[in-house]
Amino acid sequence: MVLTMKNRTTSTLLGVVFLFLTNHVYAANIEAGKAKAATCFACHGPNGNSLNPEIPSLSGQPAQAISTALFRYREGNRKNPIMTPLAADLSNADMNNLAAYFSAEKRTTTHMTSEKNFALGPELANKYNCTQCHGPNLLGLQHIPRVAGQQHEYLITQLRSFKAQTRSDMDGNMSSAAANLNEADIVILSDYIAGLADRPTQ
Ligand code: HEC
Ligand code: HEC
Repeated sequence: MVLTMKNRTTSTLLGVVFLFLTNHVYAANIEAGKAKAATCFACHGPNGNSLNPEIPSLSGQPAQAISTALFRYREGNRKNPIMTPLAADLSNADMNNLAAYFSAEKRTTTHMTSEKNFALGPELANKYNCTQCHGPNLLGLQHIPRVAGQQHEYLITQLRSFKAQTRSDMDGNMSSAAANLNEADIVILSDYIAGLADRPTQ
């Protein structure tokens, strides 16, 4: 009896140690992600800096935000006629590798924010707590996506869709945040945020 207990404890301990080791031995592989990313460039632009205002950039996005989005497309929580079938073929390791690669790339943007909206943006981002969740410079944090320097049309579409509750939302937080925005706020915030690259929000 004593022996059995001891064996059980030992094997449980070994299991814990093994899990710990495998978690730490597996590190997302940027090179493997880069090799897989070639097919993504056609739409998301070279190195994940999109050239199409309607398609999001992936560069400089927190890795966890990218892998979470891919996982949610694959599992059907977030639906899109283009991304859903593409994500269906990706393994968890592929997603982590792709996320590691794109998050390490530098974000560039060519969007020029109007003077008026560049002046109005910071106050709105503060008023609606955008900076509280997306970070002081809107660079994202863990699973919360970076929005600074994101593509202009994509931002407008996403904010309108969160407000209309047609864009999937992992925990309801973003839909609640967008519920308070009016159309003028959406236009100002999207123009302001799209022009932020690594530039601080002031
Ligand atoms: C044929 C065009 C196309 C290709 C190829 C493509 N994507 Fe996409 N991707 C899109 C579009 C369009 C969206 C926006 C979809 C939406 O509104 O949900 C998107 C969205 C995403 C998002 C969510 C971004 C965000 O900010 O929420 C991720 C992550 C993503 N794609 C990763 C990839 C990866 C990784 C690849 C390559 C394996 C890839 N995509 C290939 C068109 C494409
Ligand atoms: C309480 C936290 C919270 C607040 C406040 C918040 N967001 Fe978000 N936001 C999120 C989360 C979490 C997501 C990811 C949602 C998902 O994909 O399930 C998100 C997603 C987004 C997206 C989509 C990004 C992409 O790549 O697809 C945009 C755009 C966005 N937020 C802009 C804003 C703006 C602008 C504000 C202020 C008006 C704001 N957020 C306020 C948590 C927040």
